[in-house]
Amino acid sequence: MCGIVGFTGKRQAAPVLLDGLSKLEYRGYDSAGIAVRLGDKDTEIIKEKGKLKKLADKTDNGNAVKGCCGIGHTRWATHGEPSALNAHPHASDDENVIAVHNGIIENYQELKGKLVKSGYEFKSQTDTEVAVKLVDYYYKKYNGGPVDAIARAMYRIRGSYALCVMFKDYAGEIYTARKDSPMIIGIADGETYVASDVPAILKYTRNVYYIGNMEIARLEKGKVTFYNIDREEIIKELTEIKWDAESAEKGGYEHFMMKEIHEQSKVIKGTINSVVTNGKVHFDSVNLTDEEMQQIQQIYIVACGSAYHVGVAAQYVIEELTSLQVRVELASEFRYRKMKLSKNSLVIVISQSGETADTLAALREAKEQGVKTLAIVNVVGSSIAREADNVFYTLAGPEISVATTKAYSTQLIAGYLLALQFAKARNEIEEKRYKTLLAEINTIPEKVEKILQDKERIQWFANKLINIKDAFFIGRGIDYAIGMEGSLKLKEISYIHSEAYAAGELKHGPISLIEDGTIVISVVTQENLTEKTISNMVEVKSRGAHLMAVTTAGNYFIEDTAEFVSYVPKIDQLFAGSLSVVPLQLLGYYVSIGKGFDVDKPRNLAKSVTVE
Ligand code: AGP
Ligand code: GLU
Repeated sequence: MCGIVGFTGKRQAAPVLLDGLSKLEYRGYDSAGIAVRLGDKDTEIIKEKGKLKKLADKTDNGNAVKGCCGIGHTRWATHGEPSALNAHPHASDDENVIAVHNGIIENYQELKGKLVKSGYEFKSQTDTEVAVKLVDYYYKKYNGGPVDAIARAMYRIRGSYALCVMFKDYAGEIYTARKDSPMIIGIADGETYVASDVPAILKYTRNVYYIGNMEIARLEKGKVTFYNIDREEIIKELTEIKWDAESAEKGGYEHFMMKEIHEQSKVIKGTINSVVTNGKVHFDSVNLTDEEMQQIQQIYIVACGSAYHVGVAAQYVIEELTSLQVRVELASEFRYRKMKLSKNSLVIVISQSGETADTLAALREAKEQGVKTLAIVNVVGSSIAREADNVFYTLAGPEISVATTKAYSTQLIAGYLLALQFAKARNEIEEKRYKTLLAEINTIPEKVEKILQDKERIQWFANKLINIKDAFFIGRGIDYAIGMEGSLKLKEISYIHSEAYAAGELKHGPISLIEDGTIVISVVTQENLTEKTISNMVEVKSRGAHLMAVTTAGNYFIEDTAEFVSYVPKIDQLFAGSLSVVPLQLLGYYVSIGKGFDVDKPRNLAKSVTVE
């Protein structure tokens, strides 16, 4: 999910690679490396954990590494902790094949087993090394050349990849292949570039080819040849990039937040696929056995901010599907309470960064009391990931915007799948309902994508909120949890005071705040609670409130009460939160840009709160 760069041409490659990778640093990474081929000679591979500066210092900004053909990589670890060993490039043992990769090889374990049987050994913990050795395997087995070897590997690989490959027998050439991960190929006089994103090559050329999914390219100096997976040559049009460097970093979106809202569909799918194959959830990576899940009687979900809101939503889902007792606690409170955790408990901590001080402290407190811990984390090898007994990695990729969206959404998915698996392990769900719910979860990516088609309408409504001073979010059950997240999104990036209330709580005080013109945003997706929430909406409307509602398609009666309604596709109400949160993310975003604020870097906030 991070950055790749490749170059072959007349000038020295290493400085070009380091410069290109530096333009991709904004994407967040944990390690980096380059491989440079000096003519027909061997390839020099240099890779380090940590920042690019370590590579630059080690190679005198690349000037100490000779050769005019090379590849480079900034890694966002998904399989194998950040380390020099796991950093890319990865090579076959005889360095016949050397490559860098962005993406995830979902079936890497199956492929690794095949390769081990064929005599291959593995040094790293990465999925990438498996792909590299698979290409080498086919290259040697069929002797069909680089394009043939890569194509054969593509048939076997499940997952996503932007691959750059160098072959010992083909000096001065780079071969690339792409599925789902981004990649562009640039060309100039006698020079050819490849990168995962435009900023890396804008300095050298604006003339690019967009390599399509399941396509392969052969890069020679100043020349590119494209092939489809059947090894047939295909012709591509050259495109001129109009973007400036800054907008290029955001993939053409104005802000990272909007880019990341649009990435949700893809990363939700990737997170589901990381633990679901052939209609079954397999928690190898989480290694919680069925027996352990049967013995657990109490779950504590502990987190901060949006991650806490995920916990509130997950609580409803787990309680609905199992007999488990679930408590959700703010980490900053949990760590100081004198709570006696029962031995047959599980503490689940949720954290995008895996470095949030309060959440890390809560995890340590749980371990101190000898309770089993599970972390739902987005950053591989982060402190929380390393210290928890078990880890469920969300595959949201680097999240740059301070206001979380895609990481939050993948955490929700993790919560659903854990609830399902607990229910199954405890024989508390029938096979038919298990399958139905899993199928429903698989519809979330496409439904999230569909909601984004409504964004102009939401922007129109958001522009009416630019000057409001207060906003109230109300809902019941899971809708209340989503209201919490919507309220945080609005307040943290538009600085408007907003609160989320359980709709049934209004009459116990908050309704005194409602007056002419007060904005109330209601979330209404829980069928069994709809009537109750609507009556709360009528109560506030009768006191002058202006209402927005986020509800499920078909609930058109809500337009009798709400002035603005955003509809989300139908889905089992247990998972409706994954859909209803999207209009609220967009609402917060559009109000913030309407006020002219820096959406991605809101005042007073940090992306990871590593202090108390
Ligand atoms: C959410 O948009 C905020 N950035 C913040 O509430 C965040 O969710 C919280 O600080 C927890 O961070 P973590 O997930 O990295 O632990
Ligand atoms: N899945 C690969 C790894 O963990 C590549 C990650 C990336 O895209 O940076 O090494």
